[in-house]
Amino acid sequence: MRKTVAPAEGLKGTVALPADKSIAQRSALFALLSPGPSRITNYPAAGDPLTALSCVRQLGADVTHNGNEVHVTGTGRDDIRIPAEPVDCGNSGTVMRLLAGILTGAGIPARLVGDASLSRRPMKRIMDPLSRMGADFRSADGGLPPLDIRREKPFQSIRFQLPVASAQLKSSVLLAGLFGKEPTRVLEPVATRNHTETMLGLAVEREKEINVITSSRRHVIPPQNLDIPGDFSAAAFWLVAGTIVPGSDIVLPAAGVNPTRCAAMHILRRMGADIAIVEDHQGGKEPVARLRVQSARLTPAEIHPQEIPNAIDELPVLAVAMAFADGVSRITGARELRYKESDRLDAIQAVLEAGGVRVEGHEDGLTIYGKPGRRVRAARHDSRHDHRIAMAAAIQSLMGDGDSEIDNAEAASVSYPDFWSHLDSLAYR
Ligand code: S3P
Repeated sequence: MRKTVAPAEGLKGTVALPADKSIAQRSALFALLSPGPSRITNYPAAGDPLTALSCVRQLGADVTHNGNEVHVTGTGRDDIRIPAEPVDCGNSGTVMRLLAGILTGAGIPARLVGDASLSRRPMKRIMDPLSRMGADFRSADGGLPPLDIRREKPFQSIRFQLPVASAQLKSSVLLAGLFGKEPTRVLEPVATRNHTETMLGLAVEREKEINVITSSRRHVIPPQNLDIPGDFSAAAFWLVAGTIVPGSDIVLPAAGVNPTRCAAMHILRRMGADIAIVEDHQGGKEPVARLRVQSARLTPAEIHPQEIPNAIDELPVLAVAMAFADGVSRITGARELRYKESDRLDAIQAVLEAGGVRVEGHEDGLTIYGKPGRRVRAARHDSRHDHRIAMAAAIQSLMGDGDSEIDNAEAASVSYPDFWSHLDSLAYR
């Protein structure tokens, strides 16, 4: 699908954000492991969360899905069904990596497959620790999916320090750890999103500035009874659009603002963005806030390596914001972006350059030469089948000097099925 995005005079209105993809996928996977019934509301009809539901169904969970409400009766740890067919993880790295942990722990043999994008994403990072825990893997060359997984050896609990700041890797090992008599400990030198530990209620300790998270069979896995908050990663597109398009005023009534997720808001504010937390609901495990963004002039920013995990999914759209800042911005320590649904460093550089923005690409980041008040060149962009590239290109195109086109625009539906209609209703021209 090709979408045309015309320049906008401003964006005004209120956006009902899609529910958080990371939390939704976890709620489905964790509900499988809990023997009790789970009730999840505000479950999104987006590609990756739907994939998570079909996978847990295949593994024996009883799932009913009514509108945005999902009921899951899990199998518990010990009755997961051996899947007769390969388990299709679609576009979702989270589903594949977290499931590999569960299957290792449970000793359930399975083949995990994914789409063309997922089939290019590195799995060696999970295969290494999960092999130490007893799993045997067969994969395509270089540790790429499809993954055949089985465990004939006894389960082994481990102590594991994350070699890359990845919440998916952390979660994969902790989920396998839930099956061991002895505790498995994951050491996290740089904090990553903490949804797994908060949703499962795992113990987190601090050892010399490092988070240490523990899981074992002794841990009771709670049923998942939750209302999924709005996705901060979706909110980030509107925070940037509302900032860079003059005359904008956007309200996001229910954005998840988990502190391990919203560094992009702090970075944008540091650049001079006018983002207000109008109302704050800190009560639940996952804090939610009403945000309002109005256009502002931006100064350049440096994004530091330790901020990267906390802003990892927002970096493409932050790069777009940087193109409109008054000077040179830098992103460093972001090599992980090369292993996402596309090589996002390369993809976002191509989007910026097509718009006439000067960019230098580095192995682990970008240098972006911004100009305030500019119009970018209208261009034809390719999403590379990556939802966040499709949406970042669209936001940049709002500041085009004519109509831009986004090819493979349907990719947005992996996390944000209503993105294009929300864009149409917010933009005035
Ligand atoms: C995710 C973690 C991040 C993020 C991805 C979702 C998760 O990946 O980029 O979109 O749900 O745990 P890594 O943990 O591999 O960096």
